[in-house]
Amino acid sequence: MNTPLSTTSKLRLAGVSKSFFAPRTQQTTLAVADVSLDIQAGEFICIVGPSGCGKSTVLNMIAGLDQATAGVIEKDGVPITGPGADRGVMFQDYALMPWQTVQQNVGFGLYHGTPGAGLSTAQRAERVRHFIELVGLNGSEKKYPHQLSGGMRQRVALARLLANGPDVLLMDEPLGALDAQTRLILQIELLRIWGQTAPREQRKTAVFITHDIEEAVFLADRVVVMSSHPGRVRAILDIPLPRPRDEHVRGDPDYGRLVEKIWSLIREEAYRAIGGVDTTVQAAAPVGV
Ligand SMILES: Nc1ncnc2c1ncn2[C@@H]1O[C@H](COP(=O)(O)OP(=O)(O)O)[C@@H](O)[C@H]1O
Ligand SMILES: [Mg+2]
Repeated sequence: MNTPLSTTSKLRLAGVSKSFFAPRTQQTTLAVADVSLDIQAGEFICIVGPSGCGKSTVLNMIAGLDQATAGVIEKDGVPITGPGADRGVMFQDYALMPWQTVQQNVGFGLYHGTPGAGLSTAQRAERVRHFIELVGLNGSEKKYPHQLSGGMRQRVALARLLANGPDVLLMDEPLGALDAQTRLILQIELLRIWGQTAPREQRKTAVFITHDIEEAVFLADRVVVMSSHPGRVRAILDIPLPRPRDEHVRGDPDYGRLVEKIWSLIREEAYRAIGGVDTTVQAAAPVGV
């Protein structure tokens, strides 16, 4: 199950809980309860679970955008107290600046934030060029976000994230708004860009949230399955599918078994969340949830 606590963890969550207080109703909601998780450097972790189970809350706490009510969150053994350029965040809704070109969006942190500190103008420009090329956007440097497809916009967001040189990538359903085909292509692209052909020491540590079980199994080294009300870690599964992975992995019987196993863990809650009744005894895994 979970990797034993070790001093070498890139990220460590120990007994993390988060409550939200609503002043208007005077009610406190326990969104996340007692989450413990150790993430090693270079690991690709996916967090899946039904809507509202606290996935974004966990990610926001690692990003330092939200404070835990209880427990500890550390990076490299140091408590996380706020946002930092060492942890890059990417969301579903692109979050690009519409009045800036691709090049300007990718370079924003380098020209206007701490990630560019100590770099010459030429070095910044080279870095922007490198990451635009890495995500396959050569030729689109001068375009504005409205001139790009959803998939291209997420490529820009990914290039911007990487250009800032974080060593942890935090992604909250980054492919969630894309059509199914674009999504499959970008899953493979994401693994390439993350460095699945490189040795683990050279890969970034990635925490990726999705409600799509197949996406999680395809991408991850380990999948964290959460349950809701309050959000807890229900299970952590190793995904021992060989890397590099491409679309052929989806035909691997182990892939199918893992998808089905995760679906069996969250099926009941997923049905409850939509007000439906699970009439299946041994349901086959559907595509996504
Ligand atoms: N800022 C907030 N204030 C109050 N409640 C919140 C806030 N953010 C999230 N919650 C609640 O915490 C729970 C988990 O939310 P979230 O982390 O967004 O879930 P997920 O990302 O898994 O869909 C939900 O019940 C949600 O309503
Ligand atoms: Mg969310």
